[in-house]
Amino acid sequence: MKLYANKASPFARKVRILVRETGLAGRVEEVETVVSPIAANETLARDNPLVKIPALVTDSGETLFDSRVICEYLDTLHTGRKLFPASGPQRFIALRRQSLTDGILDAAVLCRYETAVRPEALRWKEWIEGQKRKIFGGLAVLEAEVGSWADEFNIGQVGTACALGYLDFRFADWDWRGGHPQLKGWFERVCARPSVAATKPG
Ligand code: BEZ
Repeated sequence: MKLYANKASPFARKVRILVRETGLAGRVEEVETVVSPIAANETLARDNPLVKIPALVTDSGETLFDSRVICEYLDTLHTGRKLFPASGPQRFIALRRQSLTDGILDAAVLCRYETAVRPEALRWKEWIEGQKRKIFGGLAVLEAEVGSWADEFNIGQVGTACALGYLDFRFADWDWRGGHPQLKGWFERVCARPSVAATKPG
């Protein structure tokens, strides 16, 4: 299988962590792919008309996107510990947490584009503040929940690691650790996990 990815992309990182957690690394070739909201990428566009990463070309030649669909698909391909609980309340708690952390990431990536891609004269401070409120609102929920996670590491925790890692990578000056001591301690521990350490953005 071929995975269009980028070491800076937090959504691609979700897939790259899952691949390593599930023993699928040998079956997935990661193809470093540059994307920009204002530039074409004809190679990627042939497989994903949205020109977004991650995108996975399966062994039968179909392309899957986005990270949620890819992660859930890959989780069906191995017989080890599943990162998507199969059913019941645990499944929806994990899926809700994935949605929450994807939402934090959507807002953070929009802020990144607003500050790094949009010409300075066109930037909209109030809009960035609105995105930041969503991010910090999401972090407050995670801070309240993280104490009950123990060693759990399913798709909800994968998303959380990617969200916090991306904030460190692109918005270190926002100091997300301030006011989130539980999350800070959890992230310190989770960064030692081989799948997380091997996919640190950079
Ligand atoms: C980034 O460089 O921050 C980035 C790269 C790919 C996707 C999203 C964000």
